[in-house]
Amino acid sequence: MTDHQTDVLIIGSGAAGLSLALHLPESLNITLLSKGTISAGATSWAQGGIAAVLKNGEAIERHIQDTIEAGANLPKPEVVRFVIKQARKQIQWLESLSMPFSRTEKGDLHLTREGGHSERRVVHAADQTGKALSDTLINAVYARPNITVKTHHLAIDLVTTQRLGADDNRCIGAYVLDRNTDRVFPIQARFVVLATGGAAKVYLYTSNPDGSTGDGIAMAWRAGCRVANMEFIQFHPTCLYEPRAKSFLISEAVRGEGGKLVLENGQQFMHNYDPRGELAPRDIVARAIDSEMKRLGLDCVYLDISHKPRDFIIKHFPTIYERCLEFGYDMTREPLPVVPAAHYTCGGIVVDTRGRTDIDCLYAIGETSHTGLHGANRLASNSLLECLVFGHAAAMDIIARAEDPRIEHVPIPPWDDSLVSDPDEAVVVTHNWDELRRAMWDYVGIVRTTKRLQRARHRI
Ligand code: FAD
Ligand code: SIN
Repeated sequence: MTDHQTDVLIIGSGAAGLSLALHLPESLNITLLSKGTISAGATSWAQGGIAAVLKNGEAIERHIQDTIEAGANLPKPEVVRFVIKQARKQIQWLESLSMPFSRTEKGDLHLTREGGHSERRVVHAADQTGKALSDTLINAVYARPNITVKTHHLAIDLVTTQRLGADDNRCIGAYVLDRNTDRVFPIQARFVVLATGGAAKVYLYTSNPDGSTGDGIAMAWRAGCRVANMEFIQFHPTCLYEPRAKSFLISEAVRGEGGKLVLENGQQFMHNYDPRGELAPRDIVARAIDSEMKRLGLDCVYLDISHKPRDFIIKHFPTIYERCLEFGYDMTREPLPVVPAAHYTCGGIVVDTRGRTDIDCLYAIGETSHTGLHGANRLASNSLLECLVFGHAAAMDIIARAEDPRIEHVPIPPWDDSLVSDPDEAVVVTHNWDELRRAMWDYVGIVRTTKRLQRARHRI
């Protein structure tokens, strides 16, 4: 029999999982897991901001249009409208939690711009929006007595009634590895939420933290959920080309504030690819850089904002400025060497606008999900917005169902490891990872061909 019981099990402590936890009432008992520290996900790495139209009217229509256009007309219009209309409410909620947004001298929220946005509409906290957001939500979560946070706890698999032999398929908990004790134990839950983030770490070069390994997508797939659009991996055009920096991101807001992409001789090239130049959507810019690098046999291209005043650069991009300086690059005086890297998983676990998956009582929110918002390419800064909107929507759905007596706890058998043997050479797993990441980078990259995809399939 299981020794852990909770009303709601949230797997993941990024913007999606934390915001959902905060929208649930204190009458519900919540367990929130992170496989690393509480801030180990992609959320705290976010730079540019949160896309949000703060007024009603035509500006909302333009944000909807930009999202659909950036996504190559593949986003679902009704989902795009659903998300974008709630942006203002979500920003107001964050303000009520004292999120330290950047402001103008008059005290209004400062708006920056990124690729694919036809106007300024990205609220931000300088170039560390993710850290400010993560800190704000974490502080609020730790102040709530009904939320138990378990860090260094890794969910391994979901438990469903079907897996236990029933005809219906309801999610009733998960098996979890406590990394402190190396013990696997079941957690029984009436509702389970996957908020496990993306899968970009499957590529050799990525802007993401090491934990972005698609665990939630794999668990949901194994349990019988539909997964969609996994081919739409977004590559961010500008990561610092410096091996010691591990693909450190140079925010698209640098281009939004006037940064130019140039070759080593200072020549701009983006207008040869798109009339919007540096502010074309991300997939177009990443493909253009890839094309220039292949055409000319280059290791990188350059991002130059050094024509802007030094104070302006340091005020808007203090973190990027400091980090680049650590590697010997002063962005106020010289162009930065940049290359594209895998950045965002546009597809994921198929959900509806309440965050419900194909399995009863199992929800998926944030980057792990496929809501229909992004289509083939996510518009910059729409991800944190999606995390917040679906964190709220899923919480409202759980609240509406929480009193239903049919959704009861079901005992889960203990983890059975009787057939497991210790690998005598764990290093083989590391080798597999290296091989997979290299194959994905070489054969399933920014531009793909049937031949390369076949080669990747063969290797895998
Ligand atoms: P994450 O924040 O990635 O959190 C995942 C959580 O799940 C973590 O707590 C992790 O420990 C946990 N987890 C995973 N697997 C397991 C498991 N098996 N068991 C237990 N726990 C598990 N988007 C924007 O909108 N604006 C930006 O400015 C922006 N900038 C970005 C900059 C960078 C460098 C990166 C990498 C991404 C950026 N993004 C941005 C994208 C955005 O940050 C992410 O899409 C978003 O934060 C994902 O949030 P999440 O809550 O879904 O997942
Ligand atoms: C960035 O700041 O360039 C990242 C924004 C995003 O991923 O939306």
